[in-house]
Amino acid sequence: MKTRLTELFGLSTPVIQAPMAFVAGGALAAAVSRAGGLGMIGGGYGDADWLDAQFALAGNTPVGCGFISFALAEKPELLELALARQPRALFLSFADPAPFLPAIRAAGVPVIVQIQSYRDACRVLDLGIEVVVAQGGDAGGHGRSRGTMALVAEVADEISRRGSPSILCAAGGIADGRGLVAALALGAEGVVIGTRFWGAVESLADRRLVPSTLARDGDSTVRTRVVDRLRGIDWPEGYSGRVLQTAFVERWHGDEAGLSAEIDAQQQRWTAAVAAADPSIVAPFVGEAIGLLRTEESAEAIIRDLAEGAARTLAALQQFR
Ligand SMILES: Cc1cc2nc3c(=O)[nH]c(=O)nc-3n(C[C@H](O)[C@H](O)[C@H](O)COP(=O)(O)O)c2cc1C
Repeated sequence: MKTRLTELFGLSTPVIQAPMAFVAGGALAAAVSRAGGLGMIGGGYGDADWLDAQFALAGNTPVGCGFISFALAEKPELLELALARQPRALFLSFADPAPFLPAIRAAGVPVIVQIQSYRDACRVLDLGIEVVVAQGGDAGGHGRSRGTMALVAEVADEISRRGSPSILCAAGGIADGRGLVAALALGAEGVVIGTRFWGAVESLADRRLVPSTLARDGDSTVRTRVVDRLRGIDWPEGYSGRVLQTAFVERWHGDEAGLSAEIDAQQQRWTAAVAAADPSIVAPFVGEAIGLLRTEESAEAIIRDLAEGAARTLAALQQFR
């Protein structure tokens, strides 16, 4: 498959593996890049030693790196650390990317910015960002409420209205060749995939939780702020994280005041459950696409399946001509 995204990065398949905090390390990113996608280390909230170790694990395979922008603003030295590793791309989400652009551009590294609304898309198009990712609320991990379909199409229209050279990618609920083709039909030139790679054998997801999570259906996730409260991570207003629904999350979702009233005890429970990988409490960050996954696979098998599935879907669509 050829799009401007595959040409920009020399990919065989227009797939960017999401820079998932705590999940996408150097092994996953390198495996995706070797298979013909764009692998990303999830720099997340930022930890210099961890980042160093993950770039070392990726070795000579070129990979990109992503950061949560509001966290990067507190640790700007991590951007220098990542840029010194000559990443294939720098991926920024969840706050204004403008302050980081001069350093990234000076290093000659392409910038990918993920947005969750039409208005934020306009703002990053004004900045001349190379790759804009429209992320819908079906996505695993943090985001906002807009659905993927209409958001991607609306941003595609805006890009064409402006005659902007920015390349659009879609994120949220895309896990197979059908989703990839649907994204291209909406006007995107590539996709960002998190949830399917969460289950990849190379991911850093707790292996003890993978089989039970893969067995759940797409109705079993919820957008909530409960997990951030339990982890003690303060996200800006308007964002929530899509996680697997567990009995524990269900108990506290919508009762943030109740959770706050006994936060110390519940945080202790959460921490113990994470250590024990208790599936009735721990809620991995996964999206609605979890209902499309059943088995643990290698990153290479995932990329191959996306490419073959897209080709099959394109062929099957001919029947409607
Ligand atoms: C486990 C997990 C962690 C994530 N962490 C990040 C992150 O640190 N930074 C980021 O920009 N996006 C993060 N995301 C969101 C992804 O960038 C992407 O938008 C999303 O995974 C796409 O939807 P999908 O999960 O349905 O494929 C994460 C997603 C998951 C599933």
